[in-house]
Amino acid sequence: MTASETGRTDVPLMRVLGVSTAAAVGGFLFGFDSSVVNGAVDAIQGEFGLSDLVTGVAVAIALVGCALGAWFAGGLADRWGRKKVMLLGSALFIASSIGAGLTQTVWDLMLWRLIGGLGIGIASVIAPAYIAEIAPARFRGALGSMQQLAITLGIFAALLSDAVLADSAGAAANTLWLDIEAWRWMFLVGVVPAVVYGVLSLTIPESPRYLVVRGRDGEASRILAHVTGEPDPDGRVAEIRRTVKLESAASMRDLAGPAFGLHPLVWVGIWLAVFQQFVGINAIFYYSTTLWQSVGFSESASFVTSVITAVINVVMTFVAIGFVDRVGRRLLLLFGSVGMFVGLVLASVAFTQVYDAVDDSGDTVSRLPTSWGVLALIGANLFVIAFAASWGPVMWVMLGEMFPNRYRAVALGLCTAVNWLSNFTISLLFPAAMGWVGPAFVYGFFALCAGISFFYVRAKVPETKGMELEEMG
Ligand code: GLC
Repeated sequence: MTASETGRTDVPLMRVLGVSTAAAVGGFLFGFDSSVVNGAVDAIQGEFGLSDLVTGVAVAIALVGCALGAWFAGGLADRWGRKKVMLLGSALFIASSIGAGLTQTVWDLMLWRLIGGLGIGIASVIAPAYIAEIAPARFRGALGSMQQLAITLGIFAALLSDAVLADSAGAAANTLWLDIEAWRWMFLVGVVPAVVYGVLSLTIPESPRYLVVRGRDGEASRILAHVTGEPDPDGRVAEIRRTVKLESAASMRDLAGPAFGLHPLVWVGIWLAVFQQFVGINAIFYYSTTLWQSVGFSESASFVTSVITAVINVVMTFVAIGFVDRVGRRLLLLFGSVGMFVGLVLASVAFTQVYDAVDDSGDTVSRLPTSWGVLALIGANLFVIAFAASWGPVMWVMLGEMFPNRYRAVALGLCTAVNWLSNFTISLLFPAAMGWVGPAFVYGFFALCAGISFFYVRAKVPETKGMELEEMG
């Protein structure tokens, strides 16, 4: 059969993979910049003599920046184009890596972290939007999952880079090259991927969907033919034209609908964003070392556990890449919810066995009997396995593709901002909640959210596998 008989031309896979990878580098920065602070936090607290509360604010303030960045990114992407917004993200990443690395006061540090957060928020909107808009429908899920792959690699790279830098200096607070402390280098090295991101964003083509809004149909048609191998580029441009508002950026008003003022589809995006955070994934990634130490693991065992979890997170993303365009988004989400539920219940049950003990220096500390510790480890890692193969990537894929062209970027910006606010809420409350009600209840709550997410997906989430973006809505 020839390509025209099958109704498909060959997709220039390397080309579309290349441009998707370039956009996904934003995901690497998202993962790297949101976790790099973990290795620096103790040294920062020591250097500036900070209370736990101020330290918590210095860490969490980046997440506020993320929410703000995401909120504005959608509108900007419609006005300036996707590429220019990537470039802005890159500039913010570069500025915040240098600023945070060379900071002299904690207030400066907070400001630079807020600015870095704006960059992360922007990258987290623009990567799914751009990839969904440039990818051929039948590979869109796999290509969209590249962003999550890059996020997980960024988290892993930050963990390793922090460990190597602290190790070379003897401790994060000790000085390394140029008489600059290791914790400062932890931020400074972030300049490298940020520059790469900026350079790559200059080399990739603009999103054809954006070009049609701007009336640049010829350019859009050429890019569709060249990058995605679209068999009938002019027909596709006509289809896109039918679904967009010419020359005008969408606004929040375009999201209006009967369900509490918002279109029901926007609510689906919002709930996907909330569930993805309320199952507690970042309680693991932002606090895993503290978590395992608090139930009696040694410092080195906790670190090794964190590394293993980060590797599992990367590897399992490939499962989603392999399956998302075959079995579809819904089935992956449903399986993921069940797996996460089981893992979280196991961890929660294990944590009921935490007891108080007195350590060598006479302090009261929490301990977990070994066999229960193993169960907690299995449960937590099962949870990460299930998350990484489903909700991690699929939520980003769906937010990028599920909205109609007319208001995709704004709706994506709104839902992503909600994702960051949910992340902020959990990250801020998690340490305190562990103290108030203990880990068994906290993990029980996460398990409950995972359980509810199953029924929500079954009742409300549409399947978007293989559909053209022009058919959404
Ligand atoms: C997803 C989540 C992010 C989390 C990451 C872990 O990208 O949105 O918050 O840190 O997965 O892999």
